[in-house]
Amino acid sequence: MSENHASPSAPASAAAPAAEAATVPAPAQQTRGRREPMFPDGPAPDPAGSHHERRIRSFQPRRSRVTTGQGEALRRLWPKWGLDIDGLSKLDLGELFGDPELPVVLEIGFGMGEATAEMAAADPGTGILACDVHTPGQGNLLGLAERNGLNNVRVANGDAIILLREMLTPDSLAGLRVYFPDPWPKKRHHKRRLIQPEFLELAATRLAPGALLHCATDWEPYAEQMLEVLSAAPDFENTQADGGFAPRPEFRPLTRFEGQGLDKGHVVHDLLFRRRAH
Ligand SMILES: C[S@@+](CC[C@H](N)C(=O)[O-])C[C@H]1O[C@@H](n2cnc3c(N)ncnc32)[C@H](O)[C@@H]1O
Repeated sequence: MSENHASPSAPASAAAPAAEAATVPAPAQQTRGRREPMFPDGPAPDPAGSHHERRIRSFQPRRSRVTTGQGEALRRLWPKWGLDIDGLSKLDLGELFGDPELPVVLEIGFGMGEATAEMAAADPGTGILACDVHTPGQGNLLGLAERNGLNNVRVANGDAIILLREMLTPDSLAGLRVYFPDPWPKKRHHKRRLIQPEFLELAATRLAPGALLHCATDWEPYAEQMLEVLSAAPDFENTQADGGFAPRPEFRPLTRFEGQGLDKGHVVHDLLFRRRAH
């Protein structure tokens, strides 16, 4: 998050939907001791211990403001559809989704997950591995998946870099979606931006040849930077013949963060690149 929408410590995606606005303490929280986790069978606070890793991260961990409904969804559905990014083992995506033939796309930073649930409902033949560190959003997406009868969404908790680097195998992804990543507008924070040459190098190894990398942002300078680094990345080619931005594909719904940007008069850019054949 950024000052163009909200500060990193007050993310726009943390805003709860009106129907879920109550932020009462979770029942387990009322009796737990200071060091006990809020959701014993739910997402771990820092599954890979990434605070020990000397690496600049693209996010700020946030676990506050879990509503009653989100907490209930986390307690009940996390054991079934949730996954901590602990970096300890390789993932078998066929096993995770219960279908070895299902193409799986990774979405990094789903926020509250409404757009993710919409895309999953519209395309049941694709699995979405949805990754974020945002606990209320994780509960929200799990609840949405259940209410909409979606069996093609799995929620991964933690840093997407560790997921890509340590847990996903080469060529395992049919696509990668990064919608409205935190723009980190201040110059001294630019190194926190996700879309960088090193990230693209790593992502390329996990994407199958021909897989789409789809990014979108409403922050013009970040859009320009994305276009520059993606165009220079040897493993990717622009799907647009003119080498520019893409029209928004029909499969991408309006996201929560995007809506807030549009309200402020921001212009949204989509970037659609294809993983080149090896
Ligand atoms: C600005 S929000 C956008 C959320 C959503 N895509 C939308 O458009 O409403 C960016 C999200 O990306 C998540 N994020 C950023 N870097 C991440 C990383 N390395 N791993 C997992 N999530 C990350 C943040 O926690 C945040 O929820």
